[in-house]
Amino acid sequence: MEMKIYVFLLSSFLLISLCSPAAYKPVDSIFLSCGAPKNDKDSQGRTWLGDVGNKVPISTSNSDTVRAEVQDASLPSQVPYMSARIFTSNSSYDFKVSADTKHYLRLHFYPSVYNDLIPQRAFFAVSVAGVTLLRNFSAYITAQALSQAYIVKEFSIPPSPTGKLTVVFSPAQEDKDSYAFVNGIEVISIPDQIYSSPASMVGFASQAVDIGSTALQTMYRINAGGQYVPPENDAGLSRDWYDDSLYIYGAGFGVTFSAPSNFTLEYPEVVPVYMAPPSVYRTARSMGPDPKINVNYNLTWMFQVDANFTYVVRFHFCELIMTKINQRVFNIYINNQTAQAEADVIGWASKRGVPIYKDYVIPVLDVAPGKDVDLSVALQPSETTKPEFLDAILNGLEIFKMSDAGNLAGPNPEPSPMMAEAEKKNSRGFAKANSISVTRVLLVVLAGGIVGLGLAFLLCVFMPKRNRNDSNNKVVSTMDCGNSGWLPLYSGHSTTTGSKSTISGKSTTSTHLSSLAASLCRHFSITEIKQATKKFDESLVIGVGGFGKVYKGIIDGGTKVAVKRSNPSSEQGMNEFQTEIELLSKLRHKHLVSLIGYCEEADEMILVYDYMGNGTLREHLYKTSNPPLSWKQRLEICIGSARGLHYLHTGAKYTIIHRDVKTTNILVDEKWVAKVSDFGLSKTGPMGANEGHVSTVVKGSFGYLDPEYFRRQQLTEKSDVYSFGVVLFEVLCGRPALNPNLPKEQVSLADWALMCQRKGTLDEIIDPFIRDSINPECLQKFADTAEKCLLDQGSLRPSMGDVLWNLEFAMQMQDNSGTAGGDGGDGTAGEGGGNGHGDGGDGESVAGGGNPTLDFVNISLVEGIGGREN
Ligand SMILES: *[C@@H]1O[C@H](CO)[C@@H](O)[C@H](O)[C@H]1NC(C)=O
Ligand SMILES: *[C@@H]1O[C@H](CO)[C@@H](O)[C@H](O)[C@H]1NC(C)=O
Ligand SMILES: *[C@@H]1O[C@H](CO)[C@@H](O)[C@H](O)[C@H]1NC(C)=O
Ligand SMILES: *[C@@H]1O[C@H](CO)[C@@H](O)[C@H](O)[C@H]1NC(C)=O
Ligand SMILES: *[C@@H]1O[C@H](CO)[C@@H](O)[C@H](O)[C@H]1NC(C)=O
Ligand SMILES: *[C@@H]1O[C@H](CO)[C@@H](O)[C@H](O)[C@H]1NC(C)=O
Repeated sequence: MEMKIYVFLLSSFLLISLCSPAAYKPVDSIFLSCGAPKNDKDSQGRTWLGDVGNKVPISTSNSDTVRAEVQDASLPSQVPYMSARIFTSNSSYDFKVSADTKHYLRLHFYPSVYNDLIPQRAFFAVSVAGVTLLRNFSAYITAQALSQAYIVKEFSIPPSPTGKLTVVFSPAQEDKDSYAFVNGIEVISIPDQIYSSPASMVGFASQAVDIGSTALQTMYRINAGGQYVPPENDAGLSRDWYDDSLYIYGAGFGVTFSAPSNFTLEYPEVVPVYMAPPSVYRTARSMGPDPKINVNYNLTWMFQVDANFTYVVRFHFCELIMTKINQRVFNIYINNQTAQAEADVIGWASKRGVPIYKDYVIPVLDVAPGKDVDLSVALQPSETTKPEFLDAILNGLEIFKMSDAGNLAGPNPEPSPMMAEAEKKNSRGFAKANSISVTRVLLVVLAGGIVGLGLAFLLCVFMPKRNRNDSNNKVVSTMDCGNSGWLPLYSGHSTTTGSKSTISGKSTTSTHLSSLAASLCRHFSITEIKQATKKFDESLVIGVGGFGKVYKGIIDGGTKVAVKRSNPSSEQGMNEFQTEIELLSKLRHKHLVSLIGYCEEADEMILVYDYMGNGTLREHLYKTSNPPLSWKQRLEICIGSARGLHYLHTGAKYTIIHRDVKTTNILVDEKWVAKVSDFGLSKTGPMGANEGHVSTVVKGSFGYLDPEYFRRQQLTEKSDVYSFGVVLFEVLCGRPALNPNLPKEQVSLADWALMCQRKGTLDEIIDPFIRDSINPECLQKFADTAEKCLLDQGSLRPSMGDVLWNLEFAMQMQDNSGTAGGDGGDGTAGEGGGNGHGDGGDGESVAGGGNPTLDFVNISLVEGIGGREN
């Protein structure tokens, strides 16, 4: 073993190039918007050529250029999806390309109504140079099964000696009404090195397989431990790299971490800089700090694939922590077979910060026909070489399907029972298909983040059905705002979906999906809970809320926890219980309360959280025997909770709206760190959407309720901003949001504080305990911020990021108040600069977790969501 590592080391050491290679500029880079009359830009700023009038030869006698009648809200951009070319007989596009390189061919399909042609009738084949890429393909069925509005298929096509790439569309012959269509075609040359090295055959390590000469279909491309990397950040190759967390199987999520910004990557000669973007190599997922746990589980990802094909599985590695050989050694399994024993990234790469990749080839057979076929990738710490740590690491993964006898096409996926149901309900012709797509959008929007049917279902039930034809509800044309992170990647259905093989298509298989959230946190038995709380002893009650009582408890012989026991009465409680588990189990942030586990047994719904030594923020503000908090402590708590909320709104690909921000939902731990709690009412909403909102039944707490939300029943993240504004005034004035005992104009703090602020008499209502210690500039900043939060019109309120930034600025003014007063920097920094700030603070490093070298990297607290990387 020693010997082998040594040889690896030596050979790869020589290959490290000292100069950094230049970025890749593809020879051919064609973006064709089919059926479009002119060139146009997509939301990422890429120009797509219109195929009408451009010099792209189309061989066809029967084709038509059309526009979609409906723009699905989840389309990332109008271009290329809103226009299409329809073929009613065999037709082809002939692209003139360089003769000696491979090409990525990406086909974009948006199954929608075009000129009265219904998308259910489109069945067709696509082939290139004798390879069948798609056969009897229905974009409609595929999109339905994946809960997506559109489909992108990516293929790697071997070089064409004639310099011509001919893409043939053939409508199915069985049905004479069938037609073929396509919305967009990308042709991008692939640098040779991407598929130049042979892959090793799993089970026959000595057998090298050439993957360079066959056609491939990209099935999955993920960024382990990191976030979605959009095409424009991918070195000229325009690939998408998706977050890996939803592919993780079982309870073991490991930990994610990312390199600090001053960490440099050194691409060796064998790994060109375009192999994978730096943001893929700069983030990773490993098993965790506890060796005892690590040896008892496999870090496993699960992918649905088509049976009876051979797959190339490409692993991207880059060590960010370890520096020496035999520190982190692990086994790699694909479908339970050893692909690589004793993998040692430093052994391969020679040192930290050097990216490498490894390819393995494995055939996937149909074990039980009719069942979904999975390809699993598992990492397991190896003990045989007695490494320093028992751990494993992965930075990125790609899975390619190899063509088999000139064929890459698999069957259409089976729609899930739920989709089939929705379809049946709406089966009065395609006139109703629009409402199906509303359901689908909802599912996409929700399931995208939440991993769980529970919530998706809940929201579907809660949300009033929207009618697309209603002119007030123009979802159309509001979506070209460049939300590249807001893609419909995930299928949200639960059982036996045959979701398959689209590159953007996430397929979490049924069984894992529903159990995922549950498996992320601990399950307690009712006996354990009773033991922890001395059979729900009343003396241990630390809080009572709408949900029920909260008890202090002790588990594992010493760990303090808060045990929230529901009133078994309300059904609403059940929904909120599920929401909270689904959300909290996936979210980890310093300023969000952590869920430790739950108990659902004998009619009990119990949630177990970290114990917050200092209780709620309100307990420290008024009607309390606690000593009053200083102004700085208050400001710090406001900043912490703003950070937590900002993370909820923007930290993930999707926006989470808390909906019940108030001082009793902001908790404080022993070290006075503020944490946002109580997600029972939370909802996901459109990301960063200026126009987007989630319609919903009005919920929340009086005194904090956004008047706009109340009026229009439309929820946006700005509703949380409003409530937070009330919290800010509550903290400043030391009085409740509503106090019915006061004169009428003073009952509502929001109204009263705003009136005082506008009259310039705010001073008079500040909590007397802190009035004299507040620096006047700090006060002004703070009060201005709170006032803006309370603006009537949500769109005019600042974002949580802006609020956070302003509060930090106020803190600085308070800190500087001893020294020479407010320097002139104020004006420039204060203007709109908010957006860029705050973000960085989220990936805060957590205490290392036992690993001696961990201080080198920021471990992002967020399991499965990963640190931001831009
Ligand atoms: C159209 O293409 C299909 C599949 O490629 C082929 O089987 C069929 O013969 C073609 N039809 C005509 C009329 O060329
Ligand atoms: C990166 O920055 C951190 C703190 O800013 C510093 O401790 C560390 O030494 C730096 N690392 C490198 C490789 O420059
Ligand atoms: C895979 O091949 C087996 C054996 O030839 C066959 O029974 C099965 O139907 C095939 N599965 C698919 C999905 O094509
Ligand atoms: C791999 O092993 C697990 C249990 O250890 C089993 O459930 C699964 O079906 C196996 N997968 C394959 C492809 O054999
Ligand atoms: C990890 O996966 C391998 C290969 O499938 C299996 O033999 C082993 O039992 C698994 N280990 C655990 C702890 O599940
Ligand atoms: C084409 O696909 C549809 C839907 O998946 C299926 O019902 C039909 O049998 C297929 N036709 C052929 C010829 O394979």
